[in-house]
Amino acid sequence: MSRSAGTAELATAEDTIALGATLGAGLRAGDVVVLSGPLGAGKTVLAKGIAQAMDVDGPVVSPTFVLARVHRARQPDRPAMVHVDMYRLLDHPGADLLGELDALDLDTDLDDAVVVVEWGEGLAERLSEHHLDIRIERNTETDTRTVIWQWSAP
Ligand SMILES: Nc1ncnc2c1ncn2[C@@H]1O[C@H](COP(=O)(O)OP(=O)(O)OP(=O)(O)O)[C@@H](O)[C@H]1O
Ligand SMILES: [Mg+2]
Repeated sequence: MSRSAGTAELATAEDTIALGATLGAGLRAGDVVVLSGPLGAGKTVLAKGIAQAMDVDGPVVSPTFVLARVHRARQPDRPAMVHVDMYRLLDHPGADLLGELDALDLDTDLDDAVVVVEWGEGLAERLSEHHLDIRIERNTETDTRTVIWQWSAP
């Protein structure tokens, strides 16, 4: 199901990591993953699963106080994962994500990496034709998560 669309009901954070790993296994250099959903939905947890499948250096933690972190592949010739959190840019609707990332001097060409963006809806899609949109909803009564994902292009 690597490039398919789908939906899942996830009871635990472990389930979310597993879904992230399944989706992460289908990612290639140049792909962008746009993670959306409210505070505490599980965006960072899902990014951990993606990192697991991509076999990149950890730990994947919330990058809230930095715009982005680079997690390098452990295997040669595999893409790095660039983990971006745009929460602080939400107050700046005209923000130029690419410009901000360039300014960080990440020492990684974004075309050679998989870019995983929390709070990126509306901005991060511009980074690539091929983006995977993942939306996580928190069901407050049951504390489970509903995840809906879809690729923008095959
Ligand atoms: N099914 C689930 N999937 C994901 N996280 C879950 C689930 N059930 C409980 N949790 C808990 O919810 C929290 C999700 O936190 P996480 O940091 O991933 O959210 P986030 O969407 O990245 O938040 P933020 O908007 O602050 O970045 C974790 O503490 C996790 O253990
Ligand atoms: Mg987060």
